[in-house]
Amino acid sequence: MTAPRLSMALCAALALGASGCYQDMALQPKLKPQEPTSFWADGRSTRPPVEGTIARGALNEDTWYFTGKVKEAPSTPTTGTVSAVEVLGQYADAFPEPVTEATLKRGRERYNIYCNVCHGQTGAADGTIVMRGFLKPPAFWEQADDKRAHLSRGLKYQGAGDVALADAPVGYLFHVITHGYGAMGTYSAQVPVADRWAIVAYIRALQEANRKGGVAANTAAAPATEGAR
Ligand code: HEC
Repeated sequence: MTAPRLSMALCAALALGASGCYQDMALQPKLKPQEPTSFWADGRSTRPPVEGTIARGALNEDTWYFTGKVKEAPSTPTTGTVSAVEVLGQYADAFPEPVTEATLKRGRERYNIYCNVCHGQTGAADGTIVMRGFLKPPAFWEQADDKRAHLSRGLKYQGAGDVALADAPVGYLFHVITHGYGAMGTYSAQVPVADRWAIVAYIRALQEANRKGGVAANTAAAPATEGAR
């Protein structure tokens, strides 16, 4: 073989060799997300997380702080009647953290952004949306013209009888913001946990201001009635 021929043959061998290095990971045998498979008995390629797996940042161990609840809901007895004490007892009746002036200010701001439109500036259930025809919620404090307007519907539904929202445990108010109730949707996406407690504290201030006969008019500065745990 002459020298030029030899070098040509070498070049060709090199080119072939180089193409052999081409390894496309996309071509490897694998299952795409949600693709079915006969490998697992349930036919799914996506495996369920191991039992007890908790997503990063979602441990939420402090049930009081994250749910407003301190006990499980009472199981309905065969008699069909649950005791009011048991219904109310599921919910925390004190704030998980101390309520400060800063909490109330934050609560007032958040309340006016997220709740005012329906529940009204003072909590009298006379918000703009309600005035335009949306279902009227219960008022947060006793009304002069309607002695039933301030009673919780959710607690009654659960079997607690007539409970004024001013007497509802703070954990219950937190629970309603978190999950919504009836015609009211959940605010858990818009309002983070700390702000929910701040709003509850501010509602307590509105209730306290009106319990004393003064009109809160959204300037309520009365401290929340419950202390922290
Ligand atoms: C779009 C209107 C609307 C907004 C905004 C709204 N709510 Fe409500 N809320 C309602 C209605 C309507 C009800 C009554 C639901 C029913 O009886 O089906 C209600 C009921 C409630 C109740 C009483 C539940 C019971 O046991 O009777 C609480 C407490 C409450 N809302 C708190 C809040 C708080 C706090 C916010 C702000 C984070 C808020 N709501 C925002 C409409 C609203």
